[in-house]
Amino acid sequence: MPRCRVCGAPASYRVPWANAWFCPEHFSRYFERKVSRVYERYVPRSVERILLAVSGGKDSVAMLYASARVVGGEKELGVLFIDLGIPGYSEEARVIVEHHAHRLGLPFHVADIRGYGFTIGDAARLAASGRLGRPVCSICGVAKRYIMNRYAVEHGYDAVATGHTMDDILGFYLAGLSSREGLRSVAKLSPYTGGGEKLAARIRPLYFLTDAESAMYVEANGLEILGSKCPFAPRRRGEGLRLTIKEALENIDRRHPGYRVMLARTLADHVSGILYSALGPGETRRCSICGYPSSTDPCGFCRIRLRIHRLLGEKQDTGSRHP
Ligand code: AMP
Ligand code: FES
Ligand code: ZN
Ligand code: ZN
Repeated sequence: MPRCRVCGAPASYRVPWANAWFCPEHFSRYFERKVSRVYERYVPRSVERILLAVSGGKDSVAMLYASARVVGGEKELGVLFIDLGIPGYSEEARVIVEHHAHRLGLPFHVADIRGYGFTIGDAARLAASGRLGRPVCSICGVAKRYIMNRYAVEHGYDAVATGHTMDDILGFYLAGLSSREGLRSVAKLSPYTGGGEKLAARIRPLYFLTDAESAMYVEANGLEILGSKCPFAPRRRGEGLRLTIKEALENIDRRHPGYRVMLARTLADHVSGILYSALGPGETRRCSICGYPSSTDPCGFCRIRLRIHRLLGEKQDTGSRHP
């Protein structure tokens, strides 16, 4: 039976790249140290209020607990759940996220997409009938990013933290390298991306931790997570390439342990910065409908929102108010 590298107790958690085994407690300390390094090394002191975006899945629940334990004493934290109106799924997710926020004694916020006049359930129906011209998941992704940012800005938070893991980030990284537009998104893929006017900064506390590690953290701490998957997830297109990249990188890592961590480090400390200096910030325009920063006018969210309103036969609103 393997033994914990720190205390010698029976160990059940293995970190392959470090060739180390840990007991539940010392695995959690290892995980939190990695999260702590992101906050210490990359997040400026001036960032005081952080909104933790939690979906109820393993990654964002792990991000929530590790962040609360690591910076809960020095930063002001809040928990955001976005109710996307996905029937039979959003309700269950909300209960879980609310439970964790209360358990940690953190303010719990809900941003309900219905305040924008539609739900992802509506979008799914329209997408299935071919009238939206794009898969529901891509609409959902745009909506989540928009709502997170707008909620943070309107509630005085300096930054939004998400549960993206190293696997997600390396997937975006390698997929992004294949197009000019993609390079712009790679430029923003650092553990901390600064904000601006009406733009909250972004923190990715799990930048140096894998999906497998966040699953182990949740298990080691006995944390409740969402049992079901999003009903629209199997139809996720565009995820295909990122999934292929993830599997390929796992394969490389098996033969060359630590390769993914090294890729993530060079991305964080060199590649994203070099690309950012070369390409500039990008989102310098403003949406003439909602006033939020965007690379297009109207912004992607307003375009989708108005299109869905039209298809649903509803009156368009101006987007000037947040639910
Ligand atoms: P995803 O796009 O589903 O991979 O989610 C990426 C990250 O966005 C998650 O790790 C969360 O931090 C955040 N997120 C996703 N869905 C929600 C939600 N419904 N409410 C709050 N945050 C979310
Ligand atoms: Fe957005 Fe499934 S969570 S479509
Ligand atoms: Zn131990
Ligand atoms: Zn807009």
